[in-house]
Amino acid sequence: MPGETQISHEQPTRYTMGICKPGSPAGELKQLGQPMVVPVTAEHQVIQAWQTVRTLAESDGFGRVVTYYVVTSVAELANNLVLHASRGGTISMVLVRQGDRKGIEVVAEDDGPGIADISQALQDGFSTIGGMGSGLPGVVRLMDECEITSTLGSGTRVVARKWQPCR
Ligand SMILES: Nc1ncnc2c1ncn2[C@@H]1O[C@H](COP(=O)(O)OP(=O)(O)O)[C@@H](O)[C@H]1O
Ligand SMILES: [Mg+2]
Repeated sequence: MPGETQISHEQPTRYTMGICKPGSPAGELKQLGQPMVVPVTAEHQVIQAWQTVRTLAESDGFGRVVTYYVVTSVAELANNLVLHASRGGTISMVLVRQGDRKGIEVVAEDDGPGIADISQALQDGFSTIGGMGSGLPGVVRLMDECEITSTLGSGTRVVARKWQPCR
C-alpha cells in the first residue's frame, strides 16, 4: 500500500496516501459550499452520516461506484468515532474541485485517545477491541487520498477524498 508513516512520541503521528502537495499540477483544491457536519456519538448518527454523504454525492451526479466507496468509508469512519473515541466526534463532508476534476472530501475528527501506531491500525484485521479491523484499511483502499493525523491523548483526524471519475 503506498503511503508513509512518521512516528514520534511527543508529536502527532501522520500517515498520508495519495495527497497532492500544495502547488501541484492538479491545481488548487476548492471546497464547493459549506461542509455538512454531522456529530457522531451514537450508532444512529453513523447512519445519518452515511445518508448525508450519499445525498451529497447523488445530488452532484457522482457515479454509483464512487458513491458506494464514499458511503462505505463514511460509515467506517463514523463507526470508529462511536467505538474508539470516548466522546464521539464529527464527520464533515463537502464537494470539492481541483482543476477539472470534482470530488468529495470527508473529515472525521475526534478528541478521543488517539492511535498509538497508525501503521499497525492500518493492517487488515488489527483491532484493539476485538473487532474486524477492516475499517481503517478499507477507507485507505476505497478513497483516492487519505491523511490520518493522531496524537495520543488528544485525538484523531482523518481527511479523505474521492475523485470522479473513479480509478
Ligand atoms: N478514531 C479513532 N480513535 C482511536 N483509535 C482508533 C480510531 N479509529 C481507529 N482506531 C484504532 O485503529 C484500530 C483499527 O480500526 P479499524 O480498522 O476500523 O478496526 P475496528 O474498528 O474493527 O477495531 C482500532 O481497533 C483502534 O485501535
Ligand atoms: Mg472500525
